[in-house]
Amino acid sequence: MSLKLHVVVASTRPGRVGPTVARWVESFARSHGGFDPVLIDLKDFDLPVFDEPEHPATGRYRHEHTKRWSASVAAADAYVFVLPEYNYFPPPSLVNALNYLVHEWTYKPAGLVSYGGVSGGLRAAQAVKLLLTTLKIMPIPEGVALPNFRQFIDEGGTFRSNELVDKGATVMLDELARWASALKGLRER
Ligand SMILES: Cc1cc2nc3c(=O)[nH]c(=O)nc-3n(C[C@H](O)[C@H](O)[C@H](O)COP(=O)(O)O)c2cc1C
Repeated sequence: MSLKLHVVVASTRPGRVGPTVARWVESFARSHGGFDPVLIDLKDFDLPVFDEPEHPATGRYRHEHTKRWSASVAAADAYVFVLPEYNYFPPPSLVNALNYLVHEWTYKPAGLVSYGGVSGGLRAAQAVKLLLTTLKIMPIPEGVALPNFRQFIDEGGTFRSNELVDKGATVMLDELARWASALKGLRER
């Protein structure tokens, strides 16, 4: 069974580091072998602050940006959100993108790869779980936290993991694949 994994770049600001980390996650997930991974950049969707007139649970979307975002999110069996910490919290771009939809997220698991200073983005990762569970996304406990994230980026701007990070990412993807297969069954019932 082929499982589609969306590796989502959560930050959208100019000069962001998110794509550097997410490109590594996508390539690591490809070699892991449990998924068919796709890199999804929130910036490409250019979502304004939530601007739909109806509650997203209706699925009646007025705007083209929402329809595009809905089609993308609906196509995934699992997500890895690659998120920084802004003021001990997930970036507003991610909170906004999550709020745009309801049913497209339902009964799907998510892993979190967070990055930041000493915290490795863990406070943001914990805080976003509250919103994920409200949307019936299952945030798995196994995740990857990258403290002082610049230590992982080489002079050429490429992300270089270490043994500990690779181990954490493997465990996260193993668990995510288990949840993704189980929840796929639940969605089909
Ligand atoms: C508005 C803002 C708030 C931030 N707050 C935190 C924070 O609470 N904890 C932390 O570790 N880093 C914080 N940082 C530093 C980020 O970890 C760093 O800028 C990182 O590059 C952000 O990810 P991005 O480049 O993908 O946007 C903050 C950065 C910004 C722009």
